[in-house]
Amino acid sequence: MEASVISFVAVLFLFSYSLAVSANIAKVDEVCNNLEYWYITPQVCHSVLDTDPQSRHAADINGVGVIAANIVAKNAAQTLVSVRRIASATSDPKQKKQLVTCVSIYTNISFKLNAVVASIKSRKYSAALEVMGEAIAVPMMCYNAVTYDNLKKELDRVGIQFSTVVSVGQAVVNYISR
Ligand SMILES: *[C@@H]1O[C@H](CO)[C@@H](O)[C@H](O)[C@H]1NC(C)=O
Repeated sequence: MEASVISFVAVLFLFSYSLAVSANIAKVDEVCNNLEYWYITPQVCHSVLDTDPQSRHAADINGVGVIAANIVAKNAAQTLVSVRRIASATSDPKQKKQLVTCVSIYTNISFKLNAVVASIKSRKYSAALEVMGEAIAVPMMCYNAVTYDNLKKELDRVGIQFSTVVSVGQAVVNYISR
């Protein structure tokens, strides 16, 4: 009898404690702690999402998704600027032609990623995931469009950074779409 009262109280205590804890956890922490891909650790997730201080104040996980999509779109725009810079620094016509292909690839994905922000706001997660999946392939598409080692090296540097940001964005959208 006494033991069951004690365990009842204990369960009640644990229950209210867990409610209090889940109410206090920032939505960005909930998302970053629960991503499915093993290679996107909470640290990697935070390294991307914390670049927008608003991420700590997201009202719900959809809000975290909107912020993630904004970060990805901004990063795509910055990456496009870097690729354009590499292209304009190149005078050799053959190299330039290959780089123009990369500029076109990044221009197109940048355009689509801008639209993803609205998709997530209206909870069209499968459309958002489709574009994220395309974006993941972009650095490799660009890399493969170029045959010069010096250019590949430069493109790799900007591409790796873009890949990290897109991977986090994809994982976040994947989590909130479940
Ligand atoms: C970019 O988009 C335009 C217009 O939709 C298309 O014609 C072009 O082939 C695309 N470029 C690449 C490299 O995908």
